[in-house]
Amino acid sequence: MTGRPHSDLMAQLRAAHKGFEAPKLTDEAELAPWPTPSLADLEAYERIAISHAAADQLGVASPFFRALDGSAGTEAVMEGAARVNFASYDYLSINHHKALATDVAEAVQHHGVSVSASRLVGGERGLHQDLERAIASFLGTEDAAVMVSGYLTNLSAIRTLMGEGDLVLADARAHNSIYEGIRVSQATHVSFPHNDPDWVDDYLETNRQTFRRVLIAIEGLYSMDGDTPDLARFVELKKKYGAWLLLDEAHSIGVLGASGRGLCEEQNVDPRDVDVIMGTLSKSLCSCGGFLAGSKVLGELIRFGAPGFVYSVGLSVPNTVAARTALRLLETEPERVVRLRNLSRRFQEIAHRLGLDTAEAEPYAVQPIIIGDSLRAVWVSNALLAEGFNVLPIIAPAVPNQAARLRFFLNADHTAEDITRVLEVTAGLIERSKDQFQRAG
Ligand SMILES: Cc1ncc(COP(=O)(O)O)c(C=O)c1O
Repeated sequence: MTGRPHSDLMAQLRAAHKGFEAPKLTDEAELAPWPTPSLADLEAYERIAISHAAADQLGVASPFFRALDGSAGTEAVMEGAARVNFASYDYLSINHHKALATDVAEAVQHHGVSVSASRLVGGERGLHQDLERAIASFLGTEDAAVMVSGYLTNLSAIRTLMGEGDLVLADARAHNSIYEGIRVSQATHVSFPHNDPDWVDDYLETNRQTFRRVLIAIEGLYSMDGDTPDLARFVELKKKYGAWLLLDEAHSIGVLGASGRGLCEEQNVDPRDVDVIMGTLSKSLCSCGGFLAGSKVLGELIRFGAPGFVYSVGLSVPNTVAARTALRLLETEPERVVRLRNLSRRFQEIAHRLGLDTAEAEPYAVQPIIIGDSLRAVWVSNALLAEGFNVLPIIAPAVPNQAARLRFFLNADHTAEDITRVLEVTAGLIERSKDQFQRAG
């Protein structure tokens, strides 16, 4: 049974109104509503179901949604046992700091939890302004504006700045929130080969005049690969072609630069040469939310025009205060940044000595170990858990299947011993996985 298209019925009713005789609707079946399709018929769901079925058939437990108990740091309790945790964004190991819990508790006592309105219309708090001033001053920009989600921050920023007739050139490995921002902005989207400014130069040389405005979108520290772009070169290109530059510093704040100020500090580039510095509050700043830092004009555009700011609630009190306190700790305890940097160097030295492949990663806090095949990556991750280490796999489609990997997030409180042990165990398990899967294959 198929339903009669709604528009047919409307046309008939309109015709009847104009004085024509309404056709007789004799077949009741034809008036039946549209059958509700099953959500399970969605291609997206089929993909999920296939991957569950494949894992079941091969007897490989899913490594995803592993539950952690208590306040996870470099150590996490999982299924009742302590594991060394290499899956936390808490790069500077601040999440456990007493000041964070105390400041948040005090602020909640005074202000409550939710700010209960969009900031524009009743949700504004001095706490927001204080955090924004602190971020701008830390990064060396005129202004900063915070939003409730890092993901939404990229999406809203691109949607606000760009539109039809414009071009966004995004690094092929840029975060999904950048790609979704481009899609909703309706600008033309061109993705360029990872970390290849020469390609961008050639492209703009030929095509710049076709577009009204151009935005180049890159990340400070790529979250799957642990490498960085040549920022000065991208600044040169944006100036050469009259473009804007968006730098996503989600993983670089607290990690790059001698005092954790990000890629500009690391590569000695003036932050005022970057039009939009985007960052999240969810990584080194131990909270939840995102920010955009740049000129005063950018701040105004976001506060009065960005849909994710205007039409969303203001950042909650605990999240605002946690980020503010974490930033204070980052500024007053720069030794955390130094410790993290030393651990990252150590990680690479030992990994390379053991013959492990860290691909293009630089000695910073995000370290991939390439396994090559998604199933083996999952197997090694599960085996690591059994050995007391929580390390998550990144598999297709997030990365190409032949580039499946384990991803280690290093935190300042990891010990040198943690690094050595996890790498030795990983190297052993990778060898075992080769045998295991050869036999299975
Ligand atoms: C590069 C990058 N940008 C943006 C985001 C989104 O940030 P959030 O998780 O705070 O929403 C992420 C998340 O991990 C990210 O890796």
